[in-house]
Amino acid sequence: MAGLKRRDILLGATGLGAAALAGPLRGVANATPKPDFKLQSQMTSYAFGDRPLTDGLFSTVAGGPPPVIRLKQNVEATLRLENGLKDHTTMHWHGIRLPNEMDGVPYLTQMPVATGKTFDYTFTPPDAGTQWYHPHCATMQQMANGLTGFLIVDEAEDQGFDADIAINLKDFRIGEDGSLRPFFTPRGASRGGTLGNVITANWREASVQEAPSGGLARVRILNSDVTRIHRLALPNLPGRIIAWDGQPVDEDIPWPTREEPLLLGPGQRLDVVFRMPDDEGVDTFIESRISGSYRTIDTIRTVGGSSLKRNIAVVRPLPRNPIAEPVLAEAETREMIFGWSPGGEGSNNGLCGTYGFTFWSIDRNPWPGDAVEGVGPVAVLEQGKSYVLRLRNESPNAHPIHLHGLVFKPIRSDQRRLPANYTDTLLLLKGETVDIALRADNPGNWAFHCHIIEHQKTGLSGYIQVV
Ligand code: C2O
Ligand code: CU
Repeated sequence: MAGLKRRDILLGATGLGAAALAGPLRGVANATPKPDFKLQSQMTSYAFGDRPLTDGLFSTVAGGPPPVIRLKQNVEATLRLENGLKDHTTMHWHGIRLPNEMDGVPYLTQMPVATGKTFDYTFTPPDAGTQWYHPHCATMQQMANGLTGFLIVDEAEDQGFDADIAINLKDFRIGEDGSLRPFFTPRGASRGGTLGNVITANWREASVQEAPSGGLARVRILNSDVTRIHRLALPNLPGRIIAWDGQPVDEDIPWPTREEPLLLGPGQRLDVVFRMPDDEGVDTFIESRISGSYRTIDTIRTVGGSSLKRNIAVVRPLPRNPIAEPVLAEAETREMIFGWSPGGEGSNNGLCGTYGFTFWSIDRNPWPGDAVEGVGPVAVLEQGKSYVLRLRNESPNAHPIHLHGLVFKPIRSDQRRLPANYTDTLLLLKGETVDIALRADNPGNWAFHCHIIEHQKTGLSGYIQVV
């Protein structure tokens, strides 16, 4: 592959030292014969609670949700995708800064993986944190119907929590008879997206998890839904938000309540620590505002006879990840306009699915879904330089804007105060303009799109090139 060669030469010629190698450039694939993880994409059946069996779901295991995968910071891993689906697929590792050819975007970084074929994704995660995985080909169908899972990168040093709970929020659209209903609707795609009717955590409508009484529980919340923006309210317990979108937070984020919920858009993650109640069998509820009223989306129950008597005050910020700070004084500004542009014809984009509609645009261009033929990058950035991207939402809907391969931080919004925390997915509100800053230190073609998949598939998708 041209990209790989170019980078090899670059590394050899400039003789980068150990500091540079600790960054995202590390972990260029050298064929590992034995994978650390096998992910077998497959169709499966599952009954949601008391409902009739639902066929046609997508997972990487039979009869349930894709499992949590755990990697270790700075330790190389090979994840082997085996495509047991009838359609082509790829896998994307959302939030991981990795070599471009491991990013899993069809036509942009690799060819789609055919039925019965495998693809080895080998990389070394430079950052610890709560990330996730999902296909990037036939994305609508494969993700909407189940294929989303946690990819947790553990800190090099144990952080001393008493429980580690992963909550994957995902809706399904299911009829009375258990059958799947279409997740793409032109009406939804041209507005806020099509919502599911079965709201689950880890594929359960009444999910209950356990944590030791009086212990410190690290709770990781992932919104892997294709549409829903969650409005989260957290229980009234001593607690702290320790990471957002996989990156440690170093400022105090206000505790989300029913009055002031926290907006978590599709693709986003939140890491919270709760100091659990002292008594056994006490339930704590995580809530989301769904069509106007709060509902429990996950329950955490205390277990174990005697309280661990932990103190929330011992919780320190997570260690920072090795991210190159953008230098604002030298940063060039680029503007990007996200617009509503209905009526266009959808273009055919090969093996990864298209819907024949365009409703959205970046810089007035509706970008075709997963394919890039015939369109250039939204922006070309010079490797190593700092940039401010001015994201201007001229549309009447909110969009969780996601960038692959790099992280950025918001520095200014014209509507609200945003934490200056690194992220890969920013929820851009309706009519909002946000300036984000980044250092373009990872070369390649990086997908840049809305994570409401119906928007991504109807124009709100492109890529940024770092050369
Ligand atoms: Cu979560 Cu382009 O992906
Ligand atoms: Cu959108």
